[in-house]
Amino acid sequence: MLYVSQLCKFKKLDRHATLTMTLIIAKSSLQGALLRGNPFILIALSCLTFSFVLPGYAENTVPHPPKQNWSFNGPFGTFKRDELQRGFQVYKEVCSACHSLKHIRFRDLKGIGFKEVEIKALAAEYEVTDGPNADGQMFQRKALPSDVIPGPFPNDNAARAANNGALPPDQSLLVKAREGGADHIHAIMMGYVEPPEGVKVDPGRHYNEYFPGGQISMAKPLTDGQVTYADGTNATVEQMSHDVAAFLAWTAEPEMEARKQMGVKVLAYLLFMTVMFYLTMRRIWRDVKK
Ligand code: HEC
Repeated sequence: MLYVSQLCKFKKLDRHATLTMTLIIAKSSLQGALLRGNPFILIALSCLTFSFVLPGYAENTVPHPPKQNWSFNGPFGTFKRDELQRGFQVYKEVCSACHSLKHIRFRDLKGIGFKEVEIKALAAEYEVTDGPNADGQMFQRKALPSDVIPGPFPNDNAARAANNGALPPDQSLLVKAREGGADHIHAIMMGYVEPPEGVKVDPGRHYNEYFPGGQISMAKPLTDGQVTYADGTNATVEQMSHDVAAFLAWTAEPEMEARKQMGVKVLAYLLFMTVMFYLTMRRIWRDVKK
């Protein structure tokens, strides 16, 4: 059953959908076994059916974020290192003023193509609290590659206090936690438009067509030319939104490329074995069939 749920995850269902589906599959395969049907066929059929049907049940209160063309889409998709590095620059220079990245250590940035010396130099720009020392005191020291990238606030209450009571969510897993994933991040960045006639925006909030309720406590974080890309790419809002969303897709699943490669290998192996077993079967039954 675990294997089936893993397989279905491959189809990009969210956690809730996978759980529901696993329960339904468990039930239907039990019924199948009771009816002396073949449980494996039932499992396969249920998986196939629900992978098409379930996404349709998603809540539909906000417009769906428009689908972007991501290099990491599809079973063979990979990340683009230059895009990720630009995205990290946007995170570092803009988003990190409010959002933390608790699950990423400096050394993880090797995954987006940073060299060891670059990582060391980058870490040394930050200070972290360590300790206690021999006297029982906490102390400040320069960050090391093994440290988590320090967030902007010491705790959630401090983050709320600085943001009109709204908590800027940690960004490490945001792409996994929101329907639409990277499309959602991109859409929020691009979704600051004039409010429709008659809509009153609360003080301290901003109209954003892709945020549930239409009002978000984050002021529009990006304007054209906000960062200067080292590779000379023109830093339009669209470009920065795309890059930072791609970077956050990476932080949410740095092992995605390895997972997909493994998936392809497993499928190739299964295909190969299917052909082998088919040929073996034909050989065994060769004389009987006639
Ligand atoms: C000045 C502080 C600030 C900056 C800078 C900032 N944010 Fe935010 N962000 C917030 C706050 C506060 C919220 C919570 C909004 C709410 O709950 O209404 C938020 C929410 C979000 C959300 C919505 C999360 C959800 O629940 O779906 C996204 C996406 C987001 N930020 C992305 C970014 C990105 C990307 C950047 C950098 C380009 C950035 N933010 C820069 C303060 C900030």
